[in-house]
Amino acid sequence: MNTIVETRTLAPAVKLFRIDAPKVARKQRAGQFVIVRVAPDGERIPLTIAEADSDAGTITLVVQAVGKTTTLMNALDVGDEILDMAGPLGTPSEVAEFGTVVVVGGGVGTAVSYPTAVALSEAGNSVLAVIGARSRPNLLLEEELSAVCAEVRVCTDDGSHGRHGLVTDELADLLETRSVDRVLAAGPVVMMQAVAETTRPYDIPTVASLNPIMVDGTGMCGGCRVSVGGTNRFACLDGPDFDAHLVDFTLLEQRNRAYLDWEAKQRADLHPCAAADQAVDFEATP
Ligand code: NAD
Ligand code: FES
Repeated sequence: MNTIVETRTLAPAVKLFRIDAPKVARKQRAGQFVIVRVAPDGERIPLTIAEADSDAGTITLVVQAVGKTTTLMNALDVGDEILDMAGPLGTPSEVAEFGTVVVVGGGVGTAVSYPTAVALSEAGNSVLAVIGARSRPNLLLEEELSAVCAEVRVCTDDGSHGRHGLVTDELADLLETRSVDRVLAAGPVVMMQAVAETTRPYDIPTVASLNPIMVDGTGMCGGCRVSVGGTNRFACLDGPDFDAHLVDFTLLEQRNRAYLDWEAKQRADLHPCAAADQAVDFEATP
């Protein structure tokens, strides 16, 4: 079992966990994830490793309370154990000297962008971050990204911090004035799709970190199947990073919504009041 050594609330319903996991911390590379279980009869949830400290033997996960398992996980605290953890899983993000790279992070997807921004910066790239959230309290990791990026541009849907608008509004303006060699997107599916359409006219290589439903994380169950360039790929093995210009985002969105009603019922059964308070209402997502 893996012990939680630090927790911090980053935003409403979003909690950071630093967890003792020396083997995972030693092997982890940017873009990889773990699959955790927090209850014996619970589902397995994939979580991107936001940071790994091989000296301390810890990894950092950022969890948004969405369904029953993530709500249960966010109720854990320092000293509690994660029941089981498999990882690091997935193909690491491609890290090379590309030149100028823009990482686009939407909401909790910013925690996915962060480790890749660090790795790309260490590889000698000029990394710019465009991050967005519904409102200022929901914005993640602005300070951390500022420490590793040449520039961080912030957008909020309500204008409470940074630009009043979507990350794609800022990205579109940026691409008009700057030469960009690569773009990476992580966030809601509609956002990643919009990023792909924003960069397509410029023919800029664009990578999306996909977030399909996962079960085993080993390529056996087919739960994470995505369509890329008309070919079925497994996000847990072949991804989660894929060429955003080739991803069928409409299919991904449909598959991700398959269990929404079941999830809502599980959350309500778990703890009617607490679940409603903590969890994010995805139906309200723009
Ligand atoms: P959110 O819905 O609040 O959106 C965050 C930001 O994304 C917005 O502020 C906006 O700037 C941008 N955005 C949203 N819709 C857009 C659109 N149609 N066009 C352009 N930009 C748009 O995000 P949230 O509630 O924090 O995130 C929840 C979503 O992120 C869930 O769907 C979750 O599955 C997903 N997620 C993705 C990853 C990943 O690896 N890609 C990881 C964790 C979570
Ligand atoms: Fe089962 Fe990828 S999660 S095949």
